[in-house]
Amino acid sequence: MKQHYQSVIYQIWPRSFKDSQNDGIGDLQGIISKLDYLASLGIDYLWLSPIYASPNADYGYDVSDYYQIHPDFGTMDDFDTLLFEANRRGIKLIMDIVANHTSIEHTWFQSAQKDVSSPYRDFYYFMEGKGNHPPNNWISIFGGSAWRRIEDNTYALALFTPSQVDLNWQNPKVRNEVVRILKFWLDKGVSGFRWDVINTISKIDGLIDKNPNKKGLQFADDYIINREPSLQYIDEIMSQLSDYPDVLMIGEGMLIDQASAAKYAPNQMRRMDMMFHFDLHMLGCGPLGKYDFRKLYRFSTMDMKKVIFSWQKDMQDKGYWIGNYLSNHDQPRQISRFGDDKTYRVASGKALAVLNFTLSGTPFVYQGEEIGMTNCHLDMDEWRDFEAKNGYLVLQSMMKLPAFLAKKIVMKMTRDHARTVMQWTDETYAGFSNVNPWIKVNPNKDEISVQACEKDSNSLLHFYRKMIELHKQIPAFTFGRFEPEYIKHPQLIAYRKEYNDESYLIVINFSKKMATCKLKGTWLDAQEVLYTHTTRSPWVKKMILLPYEARIMKINLF
Ligand code: NOJ
Repeated sequence: MKQHYQSVIYQIWPRSFKDSQNDGIGDLQGIISKLDYLASLGIDYLWLSPIYASPNADYGYDVSDYYQIHPDFGTMDDFDTLLFEANRRGIKLIMDIVANHTSIEHTWFQSAQKDVSSPYRDFYYFMEGKGNHPPNNWISIFGGSAWRRIEDNTYALALFTPSQVDLNWQNPKVRNEVVRILKFWLDKGVSGFRWDVINTISKIDGLIDKNPNKKGLQFADDYIINREPSLQYIDEIMSQLSDYPDVLMIGEGMLIDQASAAKYAPNQMRRMDMMFHFDLHMLGCGPLGKYDFRKLYRFSTMDMKKVIFSWQKDMQDKGYWIGNYLSNHDQPRQISRFGDDKTYRVASGKALAVLNFTLSGTPFVYQGEEIGMTNCHLDMDEWRDFEAKNGYLVLQSMMKLPAFLAKKIVMKMTRDHARTVMQWTDETYAGFSNVNPWIKVNPNKDEISVQACEKDSNSLLHFYRKMIELHKQIPAFTFGRFEPEYIKHPQLIAYRKEYNDESYLIVINFSKKMATCKLKGTWLDAQEVLYTHTTRSPWVKKMILLPYEARIMKINLF
């Protein structure tokens, strides 16, 4: 087993973390000023969402130059300082590598679109339209056609925003350029990469229509996701990185299934070290994704448990690895989505943390989760994200929904929830900046902030520190054998983790009501490792758990 699996990785979305220049936008010097805070959490790696030059059509996920730092974030000198200062505190840096597509402002695309004989023409997918229609019927991940019209009847494939044009990975020159970019950052001293949508880098030959007999735009699904050649591309890249044996590779597996995850991140092979899957985040969504409201975003603790347990068992059986995350820059805040952001904000935040730090897989923490940040009400003129604005239009035009409903759906799932600024203090701009930030400050910064958490010994922040410490002390959480418990109990998420001669029982009441369960056999004499509530409910044979209470117990097996 790879030792770095036991690490804890903290994700920063730099635009909203800390502004040092007082222009309302977070930056690298801002991150540097918070490194002591980050070190105090006990994390091992910092993953930075993209900081490269970009026109920001998708806030950095549309890269126009992979070798430059976006001026909003600072300079290359600032980056070097950040790397040095982070490493000095024992924290390694992970870059986001967005190589499925570039921005239309990248010089490769600029050259390719101007000149059909450009050496970069074959870096992208240019195709002729059919009559007055795009070359095929694929829908973009963000809604609308997946094709950008270039001129007259020529189009370029753009599976995300129309400003993100897909790179043609069949072209070996593209793959060589990617290796060059990786080496540039590795030679600077970064320790790994988080690969944006790594499972979409290969597309079906000929880019043919999906479900040609069906009317309207179609989700291209297996024509763009989990295709075999992407594994060969990864193998080729890894073979060229033999001088960097310790680089950590994290793959984002867009809508990936278990069979594919097993191929992308096998324990015994040097591909991705771990994959992110989406199944937990798609709970309550329809098959078309997060704005497919047909299931009304309803799901039960049983549904959650089914997804989590099924991945735990599968990765164990097949021998692959996943990254566990309950929030990131693409998802609403975890307490609002999976817990309770009103009465049980702190309790449900702790329950979620227990889950994240005791499951097999490597735990990720997204900025603000450690203080229990929640979703934020945003008026339409406060929306910033393309996905939200476009989703609002598509829900009305394609799904024929009235505007008020489209707005409600977007507000439920928008990525802007995750992108409101980090709440450091209760000051006007939450201690993030001295000026009005680029996105709304959540008014609940009056109660929820790092400053408030530091003062309260029962706060989520202190609990995160404790959980991260436990995660490091107890290898059973990471490497232990996973065995589900109380499977049919509708309120509980419970399991054992067994490693060498130690067995841990994790029991989480994932509900707003009191729960009870019978303790079996040797567990009656178990040693208590952790409980989340201040007063423990008494138990004799039967364990009583308050709403969102979680407990961890231990026995020695031999
Ligand atoms: C996944 C990233 O996490 C998301 O933020 C981005 O919009 C898409 N990939 C496209 O790069």
